[in-house]
This record gives sequence, C-alpha cells and structure tokens, in this order.
Amino acid sequence: MSTVEKIKAAEELISNKIQKKPSIGLILGSGLGVLADEIQNAVRIPYSDIPGFPTSTVAGHKGQLVIGELEGKQVVAMQGRFHFYEGYPMDLVTLPVRVMKAIGVSSIIVTNAAGGINENYKPGDLMLIRDHINLTGANPLIGPNDDAVGVRFPDMSQAYSPKLLDLGKQAAKNIGLTVQEGVYVGNPGPSYETPAEIRMLRTLGGDAVGMSTVPEVIVARHSELQVLGISCISNMAAGILDQPLTHEEVMETTEMVKTQFLAFVKEIVKRMDGEKK
Ligand code: HPA
Repeated sequence: MSTVEKIKAAEELISNKIQKKPSIGLILGSGLGVLADEIQNAVRIPYSDIPGFPTSTVAGHKGQLVIGELEGKQVVAMQGRFHFYEGYPMDLVTLPVRVMKAIGVSSIIVTNAAGGINENYKPGDLMLIRDHINLTGANPLIGPNDDAVGVRFPDMSQAYSPKLLDLGKQAAKNIGLTVQEGVYVGNPGPSYETPAEIRMLRTLGGDAVGMSTVPEVIVARHSELQVLGISCISNMAAGILDQPLTHEEVMETTEMVKTQFLAFVKEIVKRMDGEKK
C-alpha cells in the first residue's frame, strides 16, 4: 500500500467507528499515555486493527488510538507512538499525523520524555517546546512531494504555534504550575547521548533532548496543523549528574509528574478551539 492508500484506509476505518470528528490530536510520549485514560465516551482502536499501522514495541507505550471527549473537546490520542529507532521508516513514524489530519484534526499536542540539557532544569520539570533542532539525520518529507497535501519546501519558522505557546503559558499560570520553555533537540537514538554530545547540544542552543517529536512536527507543519509541544524532563542529560541514564528512570519520573502533566494538558485542551480551522 502507498502512503496515500494507507491514509485513506485508516481514515475510513476510523470514521466508521466514531460519531464526531476530533479536532485536537494528542501524541503521548513514554509514560505519558495515561492521559488517554481520561478521555470520555472513548472509542479505542488498537494499532493492529488500523491498515498500515505498525504495532508499537517500546515498554511504556500501549499501542492504540483513543478517540472521544476531553474537557468538552473532541480529541484523538495516540497512546504510544512509533520511533525512528525502532527501525520504522519516517513515513510510518509520521503516518498517524497524516491520519489525524485526514479525520479532521486541526491542532496537535505532541508530548515526550526528554533529557534536560539546560542546567537550570530538574527532573520532573515540564517544558513547553519553543522550537526544535532536527539531528535525526533524516526528514520525513524526503521523496516525491504530494502538492495536494502540502508544499515542497514547508516553512518551519513557526513550527510550534506562538499562539498555542502563549495559551500553554496561560494554562500553566492558571493552575499555578511553573513550566520551562525551550528548544528540543531530536536525536535518532536509541543510545543516549555522550557527555561530549550534550555539551555540543548545549552550545547549539538545545535545552532538552529526546528521540521523537521532530518527525511528527515536520509532517504536522507540512499538513498545516498547529502544534503545541511539551517535554517532560525525565532525567538530566548525560554527564550532568554523576549517574548512568536508564529507561527505568525515565518511566519513574514520568510516573511522578503524572498528576501535573494531566492537569496541564487538560487545562490547555480546555482553552483550545474545538472547532475545525
Ligand atoms: N536523551 C535522549 N532521549 C531521552 C532522554 C535523554 O536523556 N531522556 C528521555 N528520552
């Protein structure tokens, strides 16, 4: 199946299972999938049922779409995402974003667990993503461009919607939550960085580093979706503290900040437009 055929098949399958079209998409990172459990009147569709979708493999990722109501808005959540490091090609990593667009989504909230490069951060901090640096060594738009979907050379100067960033800051303020704001560096993974790499990334202007998000955001912008990004700083990046990095630590920290994370994203969704743009 071509990507276009996969999008069409997935769209048909999903549309037949839901009554109302979602306008907000949520991509939930490692340990952050709990948000999907808050969705009311939910229709859950395992990735294995969706044509063209790979099945997610990483611990802490469930592998289903959850579609329903959150804070009075129609949302579609990816409980578990696909990573480049799992060996999936970029067009599969980003297929769900294309499908979200096809079923009516106009804005997405992309979340992830990330290592803190900025030494003023601490594990458990939430960071609104202001911008990113793509160091994956790839780009999901490489290959022929479908002009019906988006332009050949999409602008990335406002990859993260300034309007949604403001809304995020307001939402944080409203619930008394202090959040960071910074630049997310997208690395391919799956090995964590070396201390030398982290010093380099700091020099380059990175505040947090992770192994996801960047491909999805590029495709979202290609599809003219508005993006809001949130990183959960799950650990300090390599070489900052005198301790090794582990996936267990990442999962422990996301578990620890679960309550704030849920409250924060719900407050954001509450303030977002529910209508299609
Ligand atoms: N580096 C890369 N990816 C990550 C990290 C990190 O320190 N923490 C969580 N995801």
